[in-house]
Amino acid sequence: MYGVRSDSGAVFCRFVPILKSEAGCPIMKAELFFFTKSVLKEAMSMRLLQEPVTIKNVTLKNRLVMPPMATEKADRGAVTAATLAWYDEKSRGGFIGLVETEHCYVSPEGQASPCQLSISRDSDVEGLSRLVRTVHANGSPLVAQLNHAGSLAKEEVTGLPAYGASAVTNPRRGTRAPVALDAAGLDKIVRDFAAAARRAKEAGFDGVELHSAHGYLLDQFYSPLTNRRGDEYGISPENRVRLHGRVIAAVREAVGDDYLVALRLGAGDYMPGGATAEDGARAAAFFERCGVDMISLSGGMCGYMVPGLDGEGYFSRLSAAVKEKVSVPVLLTGGVVTGAGAEKLLREGKADLIGVGRAILKDSGWARRVMGEER
Ligand SMILES: Cc1cc2nc3c(=O)[nH]c(=O)nc-3n(C[C@H](O)[C@H](O)[C@H](O)COP(=O)(O)O)c2cc1C
Repeated sequence: MYGVRSDSGAVFCRFVPILKSEAGCPIMKAELFFFTKSVLKEAMSMRLLQEPVTIKNVTLKNRLVMPPMATEKADRGAVTAATLAWYDEKSRGGFIGLVETEHCYVSPEGQASPCQLSISRDSDVEGLSRLVRTVHANGSPLVAQLNHAGSLAKEEVTGLPAYGASAVTNPRRGTRAPVALDAAGLDKIVRDFAAAARRAKEAGFDGVELHSAHGYLLDQFYSPLTNRRGDEYGISPENRVRLHGRVIAAVREAVGDDYLVALRLGAGDYMPGGATAEDGARAAAFFERCGVDMISLSGGMCGYMVPGLDGEGYFSRLSAAVKEKVSVPVLLTGGVVTGAGAEKLLREGKADLIGVGRAILKDSGWARRVMGEER
């Protein structure tokens, strides 16, 4: 099928074999189709990517999500003019169904980098509410990503020891072995996530996402590579998500029932002895039972990319496995650079929402072009 677009519509041409010549070559018939602009528009507007969806208290006008991307623009954790300008530019026009913030640290010892955003203090709420107003004014809902870096926290930044599930080196960055969290430490993690979620709600965010991917603390509990605990938080798949269950319950208590709570799961480690797609599906089903409203899929100890794994939706094996086990919406991110690629993943049932990160990072007009012009 070949097509040409014009101001009034588009012409498509299809070649159909009707006869064979004596020499055995097919003789083709050309069929021409003309679609008016309004017919084309309707076809376009039926695209799954354009379909609105409501998740808990949040209505997304389409299925495109800007996933968390650390901007490193904060000043001692606080929102700066540069932070606001960046989110303003990315969300301008309201073409993105859901915007997510970069990972915000929930406690001082959970800070990953010097210019990371903080949600660890009540005094952060004012700056964060300015960030919310900026993105809302552009017409998109905004979710705050909550994170504790665990063994990926830098002692030279925090001035505090790095904590982790077990005293083992983090395979993602080969850091010094962290201090294994004790019972009091676990209680503090739960309280810190809950307090951060309460602040997110106070600041006006539409929801929160708990970060359990890319080798950070909750992922360190989930992954068998970093969780060697001999207590009820370690070794078995059930034990490795026990802390998540406590965090989800405490966050829910802090924000109430009618508030979006998502979880980003680094479902697969892509390393020998690491977490697999099957682990991810089982964990996701548990998170749903705990009351999570959306599961966002990414990689674990491998980070958000895996050498040799490419193409649009390179984590779709993980998301497809999760989708079989949960009924809450599943967000898939990784490698998507075209609207057609996003649409294909939705049509194939690999996910309900598609995250587009680096394409938007490089080109702030990406969403306008893909979601806007073709409407
Ligand atoms: C500069 C940069 C910063 C990122 N920061 C975060 C982050 O704070 N939290 C997170 O969960 N993922 C983070 N990611 C991963 C993205 O959310 C996304 O999963 C990744 O870029 C793959 O999607 P893409 O191929 O559409 O870019 C970051 C990615 C980039 C490129």
